[in-house]
Amino acid sequence: MTHKPIKKAVFPVAGLGTRFLPATKAIPKELLPIVDRPLIQYAVDEAREAGIEQIIFVTGRGKTAIVEHFDIAFELETTMEERGKDLSVLDPTRATPGDIITVRQQVPLGLGHAIWCARAIVGDDPFAILLPDELMIGKPGCIKQMVEAYNDVGGNLISVLEVPQEEVSSYGVIAPGEVKSDTLTEVTGLVEKPAVADAPSNKIISGRYILQPEVMRVLEDQGKGAGGEIQLTDAMARMIGDQPFHAVTFEGSRYDCGSKVGFVEATLALALEREDMGADVRDIAERLLAR
Ligand code: UTP
Repeated sequence: MTHKPIKKAVFPVAGLGTRFLPATKAIPKELLPIVDRPLIQYAVDEAREAGIEQIIFVTGRGKTAIVEHFDIAFELETTMEERGKDLSVLDPTRATPGDIITVRQQVPLGLGHAIWCARAIVGDDPFAILLPDELMIGKPGCIKQMVEAYNDVGGNLISVLEVPQEEVSSYGVIAPGEVKSDTLTEVTGLVEKPAVADAPSNKIISGRYILQPEVMRVLEDQGKGAGGEIQLTDAMARMIGDQPFHAVTFEGSRYDCGSKVGFVEATLALALEREDMGADVRDIAERLLAR
């Protein structure tokens, strides 16, 4: 059976980024760089690799620099050209005209509410969601792995990874059903930030989703959940049983760049892997550790 292709992706970027204050007072969290690329760039590149054509940013106050990042910076490019500098470094920031759409979330009422703000653009199409502060590094990327699974099973998919049981209460957790393959498991339930004793598994939702447009109807009357926010997890949980729901175990590395320690870990890991600086960074890290 063929399933409607995934051509649209929603990037919720309207959060306040309070864990990174004061860095995020005037700069969106999503523009903080891991080495030399902002978080949002990694997420947009990952989406493009999976064949996504429409990039939908859910923005809020103080977030317009995210959209500007994907503009052509005329003065910058002209000056660089005059000085004979290589412009290819800017290639990933070039968007096809008309491919970037922004909608506004005036008040950050939660992830579920942010997604609902994109309902008119999503329309009747299935769509992907990428949380840019979860950095997923894989070959292929996480959303591509999920699109490949979607082409088989259709319906709704979420990416998951396993964490130590005592950490589950910071995350959305799945209740696993039938295991379909090494990386694909049916989902029979979802719970946001459960107490350790109540958690149905140690598989946590990790920032990537492929959802059917019906989720917008469910979000429409979704009340507040954990943390007083309108939770996407609660809306997805209500769809289980009506539509196929699967978890894809991501094969790759995931860094929680919404937390400071995760951000530093990502910076170190990616710098160590870089051909142009890996050896230097390793020397520096060893020197610092020997202090
Ligand atoms: P987070 O809870 O990790 O981001 O939401 P935050 O609220 O910005 O960060 P802290 O906790 O205050 O430090 C995950 C993603 O969802 C977006 C965020 O921008 C982030 O990309 N988000 C969250 C919204 O767009 N709107 C919201 O109401 C909440």
